[in-house]
Amino acid sequence: MSATATTNANGSATPQPPPRSGRAKWTSRYPHLGTGPLPADVFTSKEQFELEREHIFKKVWLNVGRIEQVPSAGDFFVFDIAMCETSILVVRGADGAVRAFHNMCSHRGNKVCWDRAGNRKSFTCKFHGWVYGLDGELRHVPDEEHFFDFQRGDHGMAPVACDVWEGFIFVNVDPAPEETLAEYLGGMGESLTGYPFGEFSGACASWSTEVRANWKAVKDAFQETYHVAFLHKTSIPDSFTGPGNPHQHILDLRLYPRHGSASLWGNAEIQPSPAAAIAFRHGAFLLRKDFDAGNLPPSVNPTDEKDWVLDLNVIFPCFFVDVSEGSYFTHNFWPLDVDRTIWTSTQYFPKPETAGQRYNQEYGHVLFRDIILEDGNTLEQTQSMLRSGAKTEFPIQDEEILVRHSHYVVDQMIHGRPLATPSRSHGPTGNGANGNGASRG
Ligand code: FES
Ligand SMILES: [Fe+2]
Repeated sequence: MSATATTNANGSATPQPPPRSGRAKWTSRYPHLGTGPLPADVFTSKEQFELEREHIFKKVWLNVGRIEQVPSAGDFFVFDIAMCETSILVVRGADGAVRAFHNMCSHRGNKVCWDRAGNRKSFTCKFHGWVYGLDGELRHVPDEEHFFDFQRGDHGMAPVACDVWEGFIFVNVDPAPEETLAEYLGGMGESLTGYPFGEFSGACASWSTEVRANWKAVKDAFQETYHVAFLHKTSIPDSFTGPGNPHQHILDLRLYPRHGSASLWGNAEIQPSPAAAIAFRHGAFLLRKDFDAGNLPPSVNPTDEKDWVLDLNVIFPCFFVDVSEGSYFTHNFWPLDVDRTIWTSTQYFPKPETAGQRYNQEYGHVLFRDIILEDGNTLEQTQSMLRSGAKTEFPIQDEEILVRHSHYVVDQMIHGRPLATPSRSHGPTGNGANGNGASRG
């Protein structure tokens, strides 16, 4: 839009800045997303929720854990996925392979493993004693000769597609997934190649809670930074905002067909508290004074932003892998019902080698806890008002483009429509701030 002119008190014309509405630095690069409002009923509609179950969660690859949870043969964990109406048993076999099964006995359907994690040589059903090997094969059936036309080899636990990317274990409950995990992650997966996830998984801390809010409302709170200056003014008043970026505008954006990434700005002029200042001396964690880009693979902060602090990576539908210097953290948002979600956040650090590093990580844990408590604060209040139906749609701005993108993907998938492939041809300067967006995944 062109600047306009008005007449000032002296009668001379003064140029006026263009209207401040409708700025579309990012959204203009992805015209398929439009600029319209977000419908409100997507957060409360039972019908929509069931469509999401069938067309999204039962079709795509879902992160259920990390490889460090099953380091040795016989190590297992159980992961219930309410949205897929199943419980998954993930186990490392004697051959070293990590497999997943529906945690269900082939005899009459009992849940085979009732423990959450551990190490076993085999799994025995409590009901009638059928025994399964680590590979899911049925090994022993009490009183087997009284079954009819019975072939033990036909009655192993039902397998679930399982694969590992960068140490993250994914499953797909579709009996015949349309894509491999690598294909599903596409350019997003490739963009994180080289990040030291293994090295940075030596120490972790996790929080999990049930939130009475729709999974998308919970997720959306973590894929925009518009709220940072307000909601986080107590925990991190000058970390992500400052005179150079008062609204925490993102530095760079990469959209893929389903996934999306944003590079976030950090305030190098932060005034740390005494406790934070000590932590800074022993490493980085979100807040920082000094930043060593040499510690990061080129796939992180791909546009080499000087004031970069964090890449926010949203893996559709409900998994975030946010990578920084020296640590990373994840979020998983698991729908239980249209207005109930299990939210789990986990921080990952290298194994500390000095007391100072231990202090730095502990400071990071406590700070992260305070930040996400603020994030959690609005969610149930939001859902309670969504139920009122008083608003049927919401305006979302340019910096909330990852929210817009996620809702677009959900809407396309539940209606069986193809996803647009963001490409370099979109927008005036190419895909992403510097034309480095990818077109797969
Ligand atoms: S249901 Fe498992 S042995 Fe009968
Ligand atoms: Fe937040």
